[in-house]
Amino acid sequence: MPFSDYSTALVTGASTGIGATVVERLAKQGLRVHAVARNGERLAELAERTGCVPHALDLTDTAALTELTRNLEIDVLVNNAGVSRTGNILSVDEFGVDELVAVNVAAVLHLVRLLMPGMVERDRGHIVNISSIAGVYNFGGNTVYHATKAAVHTLSRQLRVDGYGKRVRITEICPGRVETEIFGRLIGDMEAAQREFYDGYESLKPEDIADAIEFAVDSPRHVNIGHIEILPTFQVPGGLNFERRSDA
Ligand SMILES: NC(=O)c1ccc[n+]([C@@H]2O[C@H](COP(=O)([O-])OP(=O)(O)OC[C@H]3O[C@@H](n4cnc5c(N)ncnc54)[C@H](OP(=O)(O)O)[C@@H]3O)[C@@H](O)[C@H]2O)c1
Repeated sequence: MPFSDYSTALVTGASTGIGATVVERLAKQGLRVHAVARNGERLAELAERTGCVPHALDLTDTAALTELTRNLEIDVLVNNAGVSRTGNILSVDEFGVDELVAVNVAAVLHLVRLLMPGMVERDRGHIVNISSIAGVYNFGGNTVYHATKAAVHTLSRQLRVDGYGKRVRITEICPGRVETEIFGRLIGDMEAAQREFYDGYESLKPEDIADAIEFAVDSPRHVNIGHIEILPTFQVPGGLNFERRSDA
């Protein structure tokens, strides 16, 4: 039912992976979808296929985000774009901190800051934030990524407090491993990433995440689907490390 309440959407990270599939899905539901990413060629192809409105820009450019949203009334905002890096805090470099904070957290905060007041004023809107199981569980990985996704997790809860009393719904989608380009970008080699992270595993597909988003957005008006954790059946976070030291 609420799809009929909404007419516009903005999806970040729309040039590939989860974002491109979500654009396709929301467009199929009849929304005018604004698709944001840096790769203009891919966005043009997506626009050709789905009718979305492409916006090639870098999310770390706050002035461009401000300009983009100046005259836009957005009903459904999907904060999907995200980046990761290899290495934990012992090896991360300056860019590995700054880029992740800028894309995974600051851009999300800016877009919400720019678009949520309009939703509150119109008493109509839905914000979907894509976090990660890395935001709620600790395991060997990229510490900056875990920290930024934990921020998205907390922000999603906080936004419900900020919008209290208005019909603005906030959904956090918290995925485990999804078959996309993310690991290829991470190690700088798409084929090696395919072999290392996907071949032989039953990972989630972008369609599984789009299904979850569609379910949350299409829920009745009085229902806010707050948090959906969605993992491959054969992926389980958890475990406990306890090192025995011979000099203890
Ligand atoms: N795949 C997984 O296993 C997994 C698991 C848990 C959570 N997630 C989360 O799901 C979301 C989508 O990930 P994905 O797997 O679909 O990733 P992906 O295939 O690597 O796509 C990332 C998207 O973000 C865009 N992007 C990156 N930096 C940008 C920037 N500075 N400005 C504008 N756009 C930028 C990229 O577009 P351009 O390069 O064209 O800019 C691309 O469209 C992310 O938040 C990720 O953390 C993924």
